[in-house]
Amino acid sequence: MQRFSLTIHIFRKENILSTAKTPIGTPLSPDECVAIAATLGAQPDAWRPHVNHQPGVRHFERIVHEDSHEVYVISWVDDHDTGFHDHGVSCGAVHVLEGGIFEERLGFGESNLERLVEPGETIRFAPSYIHRFRPQNGIPTTSIHVYSPPLGAIGAYHRGDDGALIRTPIDGEAELVNLNA
Ligand SMILES: [Fe+2]
Repeated sequence: MQRFSLTIHIFRKENILSTAKTPIGTPLSPDECVAIAATLGAQPDAWRPHVNHQPGVRHFERIVHEDSHEVYVISWVDDHDTGFHDHGVSCGAVHVLEGGIFEERLGFGESNLERLVEPGETIRFAPSYIHRFRPQNGIPTTSIHVYSPPLGAIGAYHRGDDGALIRTPIDGEAELVNLNA
């Protein structure tokens, strides 16, 4: 099993943009996360300077860090694969800016649910949500991610040696990788 084989590249540029409309510390709803993601997505000047497609590296830049929420611009290339994960107690939204992301959700006794999220589309999720992201056929892809409250402990899901599903606690600031790869 390969774990955390990719270099972690997390760049923090705190409070560059202030998007909070609710009192500091008040968690946002998934719909509010969607509104922030879509609003920032419509402002290339807000996200374009943070795009960085490097071969072999999934590049993160946190462009907002409030008590109530945080926003990342993520640049994807190659065969980056988050593996299945949850988001702890956070809800959120993901807005695709360019390229495309395959989102896969675990089916419980059913086939997994997979869809392509294309530029201009936004998905929302509650804290109960489990999914996996991969860029579309290795096409350089850029997305905005809003989490509220900011990610704390999250969970990565993988297949144990006996075939049973395992949840591994992960720091929300660590890079997610497919633990079964
Ligand atoms: Fe996620």
